[in-house]
Amino acid sequence: RRMSEKSKAKVFVSRDDFPAEGMNLLKERCDLEIWPLKKGLLSRDELVKQIKVKDAFYIALGDKIDKELLKSAGKNFKVISTMSVGLDHIDVAAAKEAKIRIGYTPDVLTEATAELTIGLLIATSRRLFEANKALRCGDWKSWSPLWMCGPGLEGSTIGIFGFGRIGQSVAKKLLAFRVSRILYCGRKKKEGNEIGAIHTDFDCLLKESDFVIVNCSLTPETKCVFNKDKFSLMKPTSIFVNTARGGVVDQEALLEALQNKVIAGAGLDCMNPEPIPTDHPLTKLDNCVLLPHIGSATFGSRNAMGVLAAQNILAALDDREMPAEIKV
Ligand code: DGY
Repeated sequence: RRMSEKSKAKVFVSRDDFPAEGMNLLKERCDLEIWPLKKGLLSRDELVKQIKVKDAFYIALGDKIDKELLKSAGKNFKVISTMSVGLDHIDVAAAKEAKIRIGYTPDVLTEATAELTIGLLIATSRRLFEANKALRCGDWKSWSPLWMCGPGLEGSTIGIFGFGRIGQSVAKKLLAFRVSRILYCGRKKKEGNEIGAIHTDFDCLLKESDFVIVNCSLTPETKCVFNKDKFSLMKPTSIFVNTARGGVVDQEALLEALQNKVIAGAGLDCMNPEPIPTDHPLTKLDNCVLLPHIGSATFGSRNAMGVLAAQNILAALDDREMPAEIKV
């Protein structure tokens, strides 16, 4: 159904709190059915119902699109646009097979996510939340020479696992902190040359780094790659930061590594499950900073993601090139 035809394209929007600018772009040219969150989180059954009768989906991270669901797609269904750069909630290969196009939102969240990664490095190493908690509960007795000390970034070795857009941006920002070396591993091998970052293998990165940062996407190859063996290679003084996906980490192994001081600390913006139960053992640890998946949560990034996700749908409905389509 081309949009120039009389009837408007039908788009299902998986929640009612997407940024307004993107929604308004869509509203001009499409009929939207928006899932009201007051009814609870969207169910799979609802998605199955919707994919049969709509032309497009506008979704986010929590909306799982698997092969079975895609099989239910009606003949007009053309495109799924996710307001995220991560695609691990979508079976992209099955979508391709079903000739359904997939739009996503790279680039517009790179700097925001890299900034939050730096924030977590500092929050964890300089013990910001632990210190704030101590102040609030009256444990601050006097200025004390060694109280709340931690390692600084200056002079440290940083290891970045996954050197795509976000990993590279983190590396560039870290130069300003006068770190001594930046190591990285992953499929990209030459991207670090310009800034003097060194490509290395995974084990070497773990053994040598004072800070290990995860910036890869979650794929079958990266699932649970941070396991007990890998944590045991890290320095006991090292800090682990993950702003990518919880699924990259064997979380039980991480918990043990933190409890047994195999590593010194962790800063996590993503975990398993999300939301993590408030009584989960990770929430009890002073050497673990947990954030509720807010890497891209600047007003600018979230708005730009919403707009790009809308533009992707509009382009696909017109059979045009999408501004950001994943090709497999
Ligand atoms: C993404 O885009 O994949 C992030 O996890 C949320 O911004």
